[in-house]
Amino acid sequence: MSIKNRLKPNLNTFFTQQLMLWDNQENNRKMPWKGEKDPYKIWLSEVILQQTRVEQGLDYYNKFIETFPTIGLLANAKDESVFKLWEGLGYYSRCRNLLFTARYIAFELGGQFPNNYDAILNLKGVGPYTAAAISSFAYEQPYAVVDGNVYRVIARYFGIEKPTDTNEGKELFAALANKLLDKTQPGKYNQAIMDFGATICKPALPLCNSCVLARNCAAKINSQVNQLPIKTKTISRKKRWIYYMVFHYKGSIGIKQRMQKDIWQGLNEFYAIESSAGLTWNIETVNDWLQNQMGISKANVSKISTVRTQQLTHQQITSQFIHIQLNQSPKSLQGLIWINEKELKQFAFPRIITAYMETFNT
Ligand code: ADE
Repeated sequence: MSIKNRLKPNLNTFFTQQLMLWDNQENNRKMPWKGEKDPYKIWLSEVILQQTRVEQGLDYYNKFIETFPTIGLLANAKDESVFKLWEGLGYYSRCRNLLFTARYIAFELGGQFPNNYDAILNLKGVGPYTAAAISSFAYEQPYAVVDGNVYRVIARYFGIEKPTDTNEGKELFAALANKLLDKTQPGKYNQAIMDFGATICKPALPLCNSCVLARNCAAKINSQVNQLPIKTKTISRKKRWIYYMVFHYKGSIGIKQRMQKDIWQGLNEFYAIESSAGLTWNIETVNDWLQNQMGISKANVSKISTVRTQQLTHQQITSQFIHIQLNQSPKSLQGLIWINEKELKQFAFPRIITAYMETFNT
C-alpha cells in the first residue's frame, strides 16, 4: 500500500474511532497502573514492563509500590534493598537508572516529577516510548506510544511490510502512530492500543473475528495476518516454530514457494504459520484459526501430527503438520497452488517437509 493510501483520513479516522469505541465498550483489561495519574507510579510500571510481561510484572509493581509509595522513599532507599526487589527482572542497568533518576528528581528537582514530554525524555534511562507513556497518561500530552503492540496493530491494519527494526521503518511507524493518536484523550488512546494489541491483535492467533478493525484491516483482507509485522532480525532467530497447514482439496494439496530472504528461499512449503513461541494446536484451536483468519467455517481437521524438531546450523526449527480437508477453495487461499497429491514429490521442499512426507502416503 502506498504512503498516500496509508494516510487516507477515512482509514485513519475509522481506526481511531473504532479503537476508542472498543475501549469504552469491550476492553475489560484490568491493571493497577491503568488510569494512574501519578507520574512516579506510571514510570515505575513502564520500567518494569520493559523487562517482563504484564502477568509477571504485576507482582514486581505491587512490591515496589508497597515498599516505596513515593519517589522520595525510593530515592532514600539503600541500593541493596532496591536491587533485592528488582531480583529476577535482569538487566540491572535499568534498575541503576531507576535509582539514579529517582534521586535526581528527589534531590535536584525538589521532588517534582518533570511535567512535559521533552523534560521527561531527558531523564536518564527514559526513551521515547516511556516519555510518551508518562506524558500522555499523567499529563494528557499528545504523544503516541510506539511499542511492540503498536507496531503489530498498525502493520497489520495498513498492511505495512517495512521492517519495524530499521530506521526507516521506525520513522514510518512513529509518524503513523502520531497521526492515529486521539489528541483529545491521548492517555486513554495509548492505553487502548496497547490493550488491543495484547488481547485482540495478539502476535499469534489474533481474534480477527471479534476485531472492530477487521473490515478495513489490510492484513486480514489479504491473509497476511501471520506474516506481519516484519522484522529483519527475526530471520536470525535461534529457535523458531513453524506450523504447516496442509490443505487438501479434491485430491490436491496447496503449496507455495518461499520467496522471503530466509532459510529455504525458493523451496516450496505448505501454508505456514510461524511463531516466536510454541503454540498448542487441537481441533478446536485449528477451527478457531480457520474461522478467524481464513474465513473458513466448513472444513475437516483430519490429522494433527506430532511435534518435530530439526537442528539447522544456527537455528532450531520445531514444526507440526495439520491436515485440513476442504470442500471449497476459499479466496483466502488464493496464494496457494494446488498440486495433485501424487505429483507432490516432483517439487522441491525443505528436508523438514520431505522427512514428514515420507511418513504419510502421497
Ligand atoms: N506494556 C507496557 N506498558 C503497558 C501498559 N501501560 N499497559 C499494558 N501493557 C503495557
